[in-house]
Amino acid sequence: MTVTYSTFKPGQLWNDNRGKHISAHGGGILVHEGIYYWYGEDNSEGYLNNVGVSCYSSTDLYNWKYEGTALRQEDMPEELQGKNNGRVERPKVIYNTKTKKFVMWMHAERSGYAFSSAGVAISDSPTGPFTFLFYDRPVLFQPENGFDKHTNEEELGNSFRDMHVFVDDVDSNGDGVNDAYVYYASEGNWTLYIVRLNSDYTWVDLPDDPDRVRPQCTEKNLGEVWSRQFIRKMREAPTPFKYKEKYYIISSACTGWKPNQAEYAIADKPLGDYQTIGDPCVGDDDKTTFHSQSTFVLPIDKKNGKFIYIGDRWTPDELGKSLHIWLPLEIDDNYNVTIRWQDEWELSELK
Ligand code: DGJ
Repeated sequence: MTVTYSTFKPGQLWNDNRGKHISAHGGGILVHEGIYYWYGEDNSEGYLNNVGVSCYSSTDLYNWKYEGTALRQEDMPEELQGKNNGRVERPKVIYNTKTKKFVMWMHAERSGYAFSSAGVAISDSPTGPFTFLFYDRPVLFQPENGFDKHTNEEELGNSFRDMHVFVDDVDSNGDGVNDAYVYYASEGNWTLYIVRLNSDYTWVDLPDDPDRVRPQCTEKNLGEVWSRQFIRKMREAPTPFKYKEKYYIISSACTGWKPNQAEYAIADKPLGDYQTIGDPCVGDDDKTTFHSQSTFVLPIDKKNGKFIYIGDRWTPDELGKSLHIWLPLEIDDNYNVTIRWQDEWELSELK
């Protein structure tokens, strides 16, 4: 059914212009030339029949037009195609002002969660088609408790799972491109990694090895190009944002598709160190992030600390029907983050 929306109704089915529930999970939003683009996992055909990365567009955030599959699973390398149990999780797209390319990062996976690698794709258009460039792992580092065997970290580099990318409003090396970072659950989910991207946003901020021997982030450049955060704390679903020169991350605990308690942390620099403050949810009696897992925080009025928290309420048996939880997120002058439940709300409440 085609519906015109003028409010958000968290936790209810949300139809696109075709009358189909929006299947853009683990998603993220890019604002480009006044249009919002929502990218996410298209799980509408099921967990292992991944369609790829869906894209929707909107000018008001309530009503979304389906723009098709921005990156098709069948355009992925053979080993990541649907027939080989491949899937893409938590894709995010950022825009590079120098190359004028839209750059997609994703958690490239296969059933069993041992593949656990970063995938990178680019496009000239926000709606795609995106061309898949490669998959790889950015870091090779021996953790205190040893490498994760399931993901073959010792040989391939540290695992790359729940992820996010974030573009800062700072150009620290003066190359005309704002700094960007990728955040991901690594070391078999035990520890979060943050890595600065190169000026094309297509890989890490280190000279590419001519022999393309990767990963290049190691103990030698730890703290400069990349960092380890929440060490052995098992945080997933990293969701970064910035307010008044402070860097924030909301993350979840690690309980599969089941919701759990969110935490937020703050740092003075993008690479950290992040200090955990606590649960941003107020009135969330059963401590499940209002039955959701974080995926994005969208700035609405950045100056005044008004954002939208976006999370997934997963329904593992019918993943494409997972519900979207969009709630107002506010930050006060003392850097306290709050998310409150609303059955129905509108943007004017954030302005
Ligand atoms: C939790 C993650 O946050 C999701 O993206 C997904 O990987 C599930 N685990 C799979 O169990």
